[in-house]
Amino acid sequence: MKPDDVAGVSKLQSRLDFSGWNEEQWLRCLGENYRCWVVDRQQALAAYCAFLILPDEAELLALGVCPQQQGQGLAQALLKSALILLPPSTNRCLLEVRRSNLPAINLYRKLDFREIATRRDYYPAAGGGREDAVVMELDLANN
Ligand SMILES: CC(C)(COP(=O)(O)OP(=O)(O)OC[C@H]1O[C@@H](n2cnc3c(N)ncnc32)[C@H](O)[C@@H]1OP(=O)(O)O)[C@@H](O)C(=O)NCCC(=O)NCCS
Repeated sequence: MKPDDVAGVSKLQSRLDFSGWNEEQWLRCLGENYRCWVVDRQQALAAYCAFLILPDEAELLALGVCPQQQGQGLAQALLKSALILLPPSTNRCLLEVRRSNLPAINLYRKLDFREIATRRDYYPAAGGGREDAVVMELDLANN
């Protein structure tokens, strides 16, 4: 992801997730403690993902595929590649996902993430309520 990609990524994320980031927050993610990737198909943005990089672990902060490109294996391919490209010191990858987001939970399970915790009422929900987050972990030290 480059600075020129940020407007498109922010716009796509706002279509996919009502609590997404603005352009300024995405620009901050291009700093040295982050790794962000985009996939273009037919010269248009098709997918993005962003990781926070810590000394021995990484956190998947954002992932999205544009609606017309979903269901074709793109998220799975992007995540597999991005995980391979994490620093070699990365022992595990963590993420949080809305409990209701079954497409994403299924995707992460398929990539061998396992559920390790629940954060109650972590996300704002549509209509003013709150929704639990499922915390998932991928063990990279033994994979
Ligand atoms: C979640 C998301 C990234 C999946 O992207 P995608 O490119 O459609 O996913 P893939 O085609 O790579 O699917 C891989 C696996 O994910 C799961 N999956 C994907 N879409 C699914 C759906 N609609 N229902 C159930 N499982 C689904 C399946 O296990 C699938 O494997 P299969 O095709 O062998 O069944 C996409 O739906 C999206 O952008 N959602 C909105 C943003 C979001 O929720 N991001 C995650 C935030 S934590």
